[in-house]
Amino acid sequence: MKQIYILLVISLGVSTFSCSGSVERNVETEELVTDSSHVVTEALVIDEHTLSNYKDVVVSHCHLSLDVDFENEVLKGSVLHTLKNVSGAEVVIFDTKNLNIKSVLVDGTTAPFELGNYDELLGTPLQIAINKDVNTVEIFYETTEGAEALDWVNPKLTAGKENPYVFTQGQSIFTRTWVPIMDTPGLRITYSADITVPPNLLAVMSADNPTEKNDQGKYHFEMSQPVPCYLMALAVGNLEFVPVDERTGVYTEPEMIDACAFEFADMGEMVKKAEGLYGPYLWGRYDIIVLPPSFPFGGMENPRLTFATPTIIAGDRSLVSLVAHELAHSWSGNLVTNSTWNDFWLNEGFTVYFERRIMEDMYGKDYADMLAILGYQDLIRSIDEESEADQALKLKLNRRHPDVGMTDIAYEKGCFFLKMIEEASGRELFDSFLKNYFLEHKFQTINTEEFVNYLNAKLLVPNKIAVNVEEWIYESGVPSNCPVIESKNFTSVEEQLAAFGIENNLDEINPLDWSTHEWLHFIRNMPPEFSNKQLEIIDSRFQLTQSGNCEIACAWFEKSIRCNYEAVDQNLEKFLVRVGRRKFLTPLYRALKESNRLDRAFEIYEKARPNYHHVSSHTIDELLGYSKS
Ligand code: BES
Ligand code: ZN
Repeated sequence: MKQIYILLVISLGVSTFSCSGSVERNVETEELVTDSSHVVTEALVIDEHTLSNYKDVVVSHCHLSLDVDFENEVLKGSVLHTLKNVSGAEVVIFDTKNLNIKSVLVDGTTAPFELGNYDELLGTPLQIAINKDVNTVEIFYETTEGAEALDWVNPKLTAGKENPYVFTQGQSIFTRTWVPIMDTPGLRITYSADITVPPNLLAVMSADNPTEKNDQGKYHFEMSQPVPCYLMALAVGNLEFVPVDERTGVYTEPEMIDACAFEFADMGEMVKKAEGLYGPYLWGRYDIIVLPPSFPFGGMENPRLTFATPTIIAGDRSLVSLVAHELAHSWSGNLVTNSTWNDFWLNEGFTVYFERRIMEDMYGKDYADMLAILGYQDLIRSIDEESEADQALKLKLNRRHPDVGMTDIAYEKGCFFLKMIEEASGRELFDSFLKNYFLEHKFQTINTEEFVNYLNAKLLVPNKIAVNVEEWIYESGVPSNCPVIESKNFTSVEEQLAAFGIENNLDEINPLDWSTHEWLHFIRNMPPEFSNKQLEIIDSRFQLTQSGNCEIACAWFEKSIRCNYEAVDQNLEKFLVRVGRRKFLTPLYRALKESNRLDRAFEIYEKARPNYHHVSSHTIDELLGYSKS
């Protein structure tokens, strides 16, 4: 299938400065015509979320020298960019946001710099004049309070409650708030770092890591494989390391190390299963760091060192699909990277598909099928919540924050799309296609159209497989050929729930062998007309309000809010004040809002907000219409 591209030059006026060199830079949208006459206007291959001229001047390596100053809550030092002026540009432009830029050296000599206009979404472009033979640009700077990537965790909110802690979150466009950099997934760099921290703390990065503290508090890091800069990451705290096997291990505070080592005992095996599916793990070690509960995500696939929330430590290893997910990103996302945030589904949809394949290999098909059905439920919920335009896999963010696209459309519709192709082609063919896809695109970026071309050329056309690829990628809703997953475990849960019925017959419910997933299905499937009396009967028998499993607790709290079961209120508050994982916060605050309990939502939020990372507080501010007084 040959595609014809018609380029339309429309200036969106994003850049207020002139960039010499590449013509492409000025092209902001393109119209794509395929031979099936499906016409769509696409955001260009140029990343609209960077102000840098990353195609004109290509950075290949960054070296960070930073002091971590807990007293003033700033990182200070410099970043040295090694670069090539491939287009003969007169300036190099870096992304910065809320950084205090002090001085600049070009090839070792002090040079002038200019800061452009501040843009709320993208930050402030930093422009530096260069000649065509330039080799290095070093920028001296300090972070500020506006560093959205950074969480300076209050010691009280750590497990040990005594030591400070800081961690970064780069994805999607937050790296520019702690490093002046070309902040786009479309560019890959190697990096190194010298980080100085108080001697009683340990620093770790998405690089090769120390396993012990040293007396000087000085640590050197190397990431010698090229990565997009949203994967640069740093965490500093009172950390210990415990190996799981020769290639994998866990970093966390001493108070949690045993619990974490128990929870992740299967990590080494997971890496082997993943390799068995789609080829060798190319990053050396695979470790995980379990962060304080303010970490705004479940996990973040920082290479060599996944960052994870402590809310997956359930005590029974029941939430380890998150490890499979972040590990899978070592192929989808970290080896083969979406070239713009409009192609985010290429990172996440592939990763969810891969995650479930790892889980199937580790724990069997029944287990993976339960995950897939819960995922399908999430997808349906997302379809209800998102506008039609945002239900397509390929996004048109058009000057919106990439976080807007972080929905289950990318994750679950993306995964079901791949599952549909797997069913149409057969698992064997599909697996060898995917393995080659990772191999042939390793350490590269790719956009949706390039992927579709590759899919057609390597799998669909040669095997005469006809499927509705364009409908899945460019249209709203869930196409009618979405795979249907069945689970006898879940059918049994549904039957028990029905038998409990209106008679409130607790004897019908036998959850002795239920996993977390069956509990989630049970809670999610309680009919909306359930009375608070019925919730009380279930709660007094199964103590769900007291659940130490955060997934179960969150599902139960949401159901309780919506059914006016007020006995959860105190535990709900404790949960929201302690946990900053956005995936839990959003449905709970939304349920309070939609149940006309906005006052209570505000009361809790006032206490909880200082404990949240920017990513979470930003989302909840918008949801509740909160502005800091
Ligand atoms: N890469 C994402 C987290 C992310 C996405 C951060 C977009 C910033 C912008 C990570 O791999 C992820 O998907 N985490 C999920 C876990 C999961 C098992 C689906 C999460 O945090 O809930
Ligand atoms: Zn992910």
